[in-house]
Amino acid sequence: MGATIMPTQGPSVNETIVVVGSGVIGLTCALILARRGLRVVIIARDLVADDPSQDWSSPWAGANWCPFGTDPKICRWETEGFARLHELVPAGLAMDLPIKRFASTEAGLHNHWYRNVVNDYRHLPSDQCPPGSVGVAFTSLSVNAPDYCKWLHAQCSALGVDFIRRELRSLEEVVGPDTKIIINATGLGARWLEDVRDENVEPIRGQIVLVKAPAVRTCTMDATLTTSEPTRSTYVIPRPNSGGQVICGGCYEVGSLKREVDLDLSRDILQKCLDLHPELAEKNGGVDSIKVIRHCVGFRPSRRGGPRLEMEALSCQHKKYFVIHAYGIGPAGYQASWGMASDACDLVDQALRRPLDGCDSGSI
Ligand code: LAC
Repeated sequence: MGATIMPTQGPSVNETIVVVGSGVIGLTCALILARRGLRVVIIARDLVADDPSQDWSSPWAGANWCPFGTDPKICRWETEGFARLHELVPAGLAMDLPIKRFASTEAGLHNHWYRNVVNDYRHLPSDQCPPGSVGVAFTSLSVNAPDYCKWLHAQCSALGVDFIRRELRSLEEVVGPDTKIIINATGLGARWLEDVRDENVEPIRGQIVLVKAPAVRTCTMDATLTTSEPTRSTYVIPRPNSGGQVICGGCYEVGSLKREVDLDLSRDILQKCLDLHPELAEKNGGVDSIKVIRHCVGFRPSRRGGPRLEMEALSCQHKKYFVIHAYGIGPAGYQASWGMASDACDLVDQALRRPLDGCDSGSI
């Protein structure tokens, strides 16, 4: 349903923007808005100082920059993300990372659209690829996901962003007398919030093993499909400034919310990672000599049809407000975060200039 667009007014710096969700998208939105001089409060069930909970995905991410598709909007977000995340290398929150990437077909390499975003992009000869694969190599980056979220949180706090821990059943619960704009960065929560209920939101279960292996200095992303294991993919992602932590994965189980670790799967993941990176184990040992820190299951906040970045006018008890939806980025949250969040914040600027009185309910 369309909304009536009223003449623009200057933005009011007295507005408090409510960001719901404290994952990488919500935190990045809050930081951009706070840097623009706006007052921001983040309301979230999970906060970055908590022990990582399986109920949100940000602490579990591999957070290397390696695109998963060719949607032009997401490519733009990821291009911005590469530049922003690369700025964090001197601070040790990110590191330059040589990556080898394999896929069953050229299509799995996504038209090489990012060849000029990363550095040293080159095709690999077939004798350097697993049987039945094509491959490329390039220098990209990885981010230390938990430390980076803490850094985002600290940057926000320093600019006066408030954090409130609260589990919501609906966005409406945060609407106060002066609330005009809410950013919905709830990831999978968008499926269950009563006034969102986005049926297209779906988890993609991932299982990884976090290990200590300081000798691993490079990354491999092997998405070569096998008919016998269609939900598997093998990747090895070292984390910067982590005392040698490496993420070994993994799987992409669409729709699964199984929280338990499958130890047989973990062992298989480690074996496949070891085949690619013998330096995972000390003294060329086998799987049992890999130093496991923990086994992890997380749920990528995905959405059929792609992420939702859209403004909507809503109302409750005769009060109108704008909701800017920013969720559903699936496995690409870190690399897309700056681009997606800056588009969301541009919608905030539009909302600040627009009076609510003349707005019909619905998408804008
Ligand atoms: C994952 C890593 C690649 O999504 O972040 O499993």
